[in-house]
Amino acid sequence: MLDSYAVIGNPIAHSKSPLIHTAFAQQTHQPVHYVAILAALDDFKSTVESFRHQGGKGLNVTVPFKLEAFQLSTRLTERATIAQAVNTLKFDGNEILGDNTDGAGLVRDIELNLGIPIATKRILLLGAGGAARGVILPLLQQKPSLLAIANRTPHKAETLQQQFSAYGNIIAGDFIHFSGDQFDIIINATSASLHDALPELPIGIFAQTILAYDMMYSREPTRFLKFAQLHGTRQIADGVGMLVEQAAESFFVWRNVRPQTKPVIAMLKSPM
Ligand code: ATR
Repeated sequence: MLDSYAVIGNPIAHSKSPLIHTAFAQQTHQPVHYVAILAALDDFKSTVESFRHQGGKGLNVTVPFKLEAFQLSTRLTERATIAQAVNTLKFDGNEILGDNTDGAGLVRDIELNLGIPIATKRILLLGAGGAARGVILPLLQQKPSLLAIANRTPHKAETLQQQFSAYGNIIAGDFIHFSGDQFDIIINATSASLHDALPELPIGIFAQTILAYDMMYSREPTRFLKFAQLHGTRQIADGVGMLVEQAAESFFVWRNVRPQTKPVIAMLKSPM
């Protein structure tokens, strides 16, 4: 008998999560069956409940349901509470545990896969939506010297600054606010790349940058990554590593077994 897991979202057809978790299950010899579930936009809760009542053990939750998953959870981890979003549900008797592994995935990708320690670095985080919020605490826990949050609509960045100021050295503003400043790591957590758009960044911002990271991924480098490369960043990375690392962290939450991520990242990066 296999234990049943799934990723739930809308849209979901292009999700790589079934491929990733099936690879993890084979590699670790865990009895895991993992599929993708499309939930109607107004039907998240009942879709989750029916999966659970059929014996499902856990779900990954993706766009646009992370806030609803947060509200559905009967117990939350600290990192999910602070992110105010849930990407991992674990069903245990009557309990619905909500966790958020996105930030841990980003940190592990930058530090372990790309080999760049976050401690003492100056970081610029672009965006102030759910994707940005979810990674702020895990980034601050690695003790960067500064976390700057830049957003097209500056008051959203300032709200995040106020909410997280107890956890580290944070500043906030719009993109132009950071003209003339230099950063070691610049992370794009806006949804601009989804629309093949580019945040309006000040010229020169990448001059001293070691790593430009786009949390989105696509076959070709995103416009953000191409722009960063053109303007002097030393290294670029898209969100494939983060995707696999957050999946591995979810797998660990469910199975208490940590799969190896490098072969799975290599599999996703290889031409199909
Ligand atoms: P998510 O949950 O993916 O973060 P979201 O909550 O809708 O999605 O937030 C999207 C983020 O991308 C926001 O920070 C948004 O900026 P605004 O707050 O000013 O709307 C940002 N964003 C989207 N398109 C952008 C663009 N073309 N240029 C710059 N920022 C953009």
